[in-house]
Amino acid sequence: MKVCVVGTGYVGLVSGVCLAAKGHEVVCVDSNSEIVEKLNAGIPTIYEKNLSELLKEVISLGKFHVTQDLNEALKDVSLVIVAVGTPSEDGVIDLSYIEHAIKEIGEYISKIERFIAVVIKSTVIPGTTDKFIRDVLEKYSGKKVGAFGLGMNPEFLREGEAIFDFMNPDRIVMGYETSTTLDLLEELYRPWDVDKVRVNTRTAELIKYTNNFLLATQISAINEIANFSATLGGIDIMDVVNGVYLDKRWNPKVNNLRVDPEILKYLIPGCGFGGSCFPKDVQALRSQGESLGLPMKMMNAVLDVNEAQPHQVTKILEAEILDFSKKSILILGLSFKPDTDDVRESPALKITKDLIKKNANLFAHDPVAINNFKMSVGLEASKIKFVDDWRGFINQVDIVVLITPWIEYKELFNLTLNNQIIFDARRFLPYDKVAYGYYRSIGLGRR
Ligand code: UDX
Repeated sequence: MKVCVVGTGYVGLVSGVCLAAKGHEVVCVDSNSEIVEKLNAGIPTIYEKNLSELLKEVISLGKFHVTQDLNEALKDVSLVIVAVGTPSEDGVIDLSYIEHAIKEIGEYISKIERFIAVVIKSTVIPGTTDKFIRDVLEKYSGKKVGAFGLGMNPEFLREGEAIFDFMNPDRIVMGYETSTTLDLLEELYRPWDVDKVRVNTRTAELIKYTNNFLLATQISAINEIANFSATLGGIDIMDVVNGVYLDKRWNPKVNNLRVDPEILKYLIPGCGFGGSCFPKDVQALRSQGESLGLPMKMMNAVLDVNEAQPHQVTKILEAEILDFSKKSILILGLSFKPDTDDVRESPALKITKDLIKKNANLFAHDPVAINNFKMSVGLEASKIKFVDDWRGFINQVDIVVLITPWIEYKELFNLTLNNQIIFDARRFLPYDKVAYGYYRSIGLGRR
């Protein structure tokens, strides 16, 4: 079927390219002419594994192109997916980009007779699609829902794995307000033989938020225990984790073999979660709950623990370093997670700020995120020396702080080190390989 996708960010572009790869004819819309030009030339405007190859493939098949002209893009499509950003302003969701797109779509619908379904893929708080978006569409189209379709189809894409996650979803949540909308969503996702969840749009919205909230909760919960174990002393949190995660409710046995479910990867203590989703989504749901008069205590706790977690790195180091100005420190990893250039809410932002305040001689490396990091920290970037070759630099510093577990940093132990302190803020490195007494981390309680 022919589909229009409005927005070509992390979600819109990946969705458009993957839908085209599955045989649909996709027209993406973006207001930025530079982005339109680059994408039509097969040049991705975001960093995602395998995106470049897939983009070129679907363009060469004539299945994918991008335009600035929404009216042109909507011509004879029966379904339009809205995947524009929904950032949060002081913890409250900002729907201005959605509103702009929906108004334009509404105006288009006012001029046509045929049925078109409007499906929201952007993460919006529960009740947005069937109230705010419905009202705007009905106002600008002059028609009622039924004359056009309304749906909500949340994404569950992990940055760095977005192409894989779109092509191999655990389930597809199809929120719909009219049966015709559901029929169109069924047609759209027919190529995927996976569990499909058919619910109303506000349920679909809450499934998305709850998914992220529960993942974020696990991370803050284990980080709190990590801080406890380090403060009490004599406990390594990883020994605690290994003892707990054998509980069959975390890690059942099938044919006497442990399943080792993915969730266990979310329970590795570290310097906190970042990214454009977990912090924003938990804040937005908390704000909505509070506006409903609910105390939202759990969400407050998850966010409070996470807010403070990056500061653990400097707190642990300052217990043994009296004068940071005499120390040179190499930061490994600036993006909020590996395999992405995204630095939004990255713990590296707070950790570098703390170390700059301590007047440390700061050096930093990241395989792809240095430019985004420089833009994000602004003038503070002048106090950091960014290095391309971290391997050649490692013996010129006193301390190495690993913040983002990029796989290349595993090579650290192939290098000859000269007793630098290795601070592994992600429990990523095999610390039995560090010269005894030089390994530091979160939740490593020394007696
Ligand atoms: C997340 C959800 O996984 C995805 O389903 C949703 O669609 C978008 O939000 P993403 O934010 O891209 O995806 O990354 P994810 O791999 O889930 O990690 C999120 C954050 O949690 C990262 O900052 C990561 O460093 C952190 N994390 C993860 C921890 O701090 N500890 C862990 O044990 C695991």
